[in-house]
Amino acid sequence: MHPSYVVAVLAGTVSATAIRRLDNGLGKTPALGWNSWNQGGCDAASASVALATAKAFVDRGLKDVGYTYVNIDDCWSAKSRNSSGYLVPDSSKFPKGMKELADQIHDLGLKLGLYGDAGTLTCGGYPGSQGYEQKDAQLLASWGIDYWKYDNCYTPCNSGTEQTCSSPAGTSQTWYVKMRDYLLSTNHPILYSLCNWGRDDVWTWGASVGNSWRMSIDNWGAWADVVRIASAAGPIAQYAGPGAFNDLDMMVGSPNSSIHPCIGHVAHSGLYDDILVQIIGNGKLTNAEERTHFGLWAITKSPILMGTDMTTLSTTRLNLIKNKGILAINQDPLGNAATTFTPSGKSPPVSGQLYRYWAGKLSDGVVIGLVASDGAETLSVNFADVPDLGSGAYNWIELFTGSTGSGTSVAASLDSHDMAIYKVTRT
Ligand code: GAL
Repeated sequence: MHPSYVVAVLAGTVSATAIRRLDNGLGKTPALGWNSWNQGGCDAASASVALATAKAFVDRGLKDVGYTYVNIDDCWSAKSRNSSGYLVPDSSKFPKGMKELADQIHDLGLKLGLYGDAGTLTCGGYPGSQGYEQKDAQLLASWGIDYWKYDNCYTPCNSGTEQTCSSPAGTSQTWYVKMRDYLLSTNHPILYSLCNWGRDDVWTWGASVGNSWRMSIDNWGAWADVVRIASAAGPIAQYAGPGAFNDLDMMVGSPNSSIHPCIGHVAHSGLYDDILVQIIGNGKLTNAEERTHFGLWAITKSPILMGTDMTTLSTTRLNLIKNKGILAINQDPLGNAATTFTPSGKSPPVSGQLYRYWAGKLSDGVVIGLVASDGAETLSVNFADVPDLGSGAYNWIELFTGSTGSGTSVAASLDSHDMAIYKVTRT
């Protein structure tokens, strides 16, 4: 076994206990990149779209600020394995094969990710890895794949909709561990992204199994989804750390993004019936809501995987996702996820509602997020109320506007659903 492929025991912050982390040397900071699913569903799972995205990463300055992973989601394979039991890329979508595509992406200084599923079928009905885990891990390694998102459809099921079984026969940890071990045994570095939609309290064991774990069902692109996911991320922030992060799901939000109705093939599932409705709502975030979506994902140390056409993304949105100060918070080596804090005199967070006050320790300061979650308002906070700060004067910079100052407090006048993010350092 490669020396770096050990499950190391590291001091964690969870109840001061030691937590075992998968130490495959990867994902020390959250992954930055793109994923095909929210851009175009099955139709965006192609070599041409992946290459166009990779070129846009280079040409539009996204690679320079850290965007690295070009990830192809569901529907990339043929509907059947070959006679030796190996997955086969759909030849109409990948005319030169997957190894050639990986080489081309690598030549651009970027990384290529693929999607698979722990059950008999992927959520879209393509071959799953159940019973073929070793072959699939070996195949990924032979192609030079850098990132593996592993979904949870069609896994052993007691009752309910088989696709997204609500009464599984077993805990998903079993099948995620199995694939982890086969991936490790290839000695090929591959970031392992768990996608069990937050089931089985994945945050309590995800760090020992993968580099990130989806902690919710999908982000369908409406403000209510941002609220639903971010409000659930606050209470589990302590499980994040270098190499192991809560994954709040891929970004949605640009009107350029149009989830293709090809996902009708999974419309029999209750989960996806919702998506078919939400497609119409995709791209309905205001500019303020897009800032908050990006800002909350960044400070909670989620992977940031864009879900829209990177070749046509507007300059405003490009500038938003290239904000170096906010990306530096997301990529801070401490890997500490911001969570909510309750200033004196304020009410504590309410489950399912987006809280106004967020903070988290950085390797070189503290980040504070203020969210106008319920209409336009001026929000202020005394640094003395912020964990890891305390009394005294501090320097601050607001990272969306670049404004700076110093003192014992900050105040932001915010539009509805807008956010301010302060990096605070000692004077
Ligand atoms: C879902 C998953 C999505 C996407 C989709 C593809 O289960 O949460 O992110 O991968 O499957 O079918």
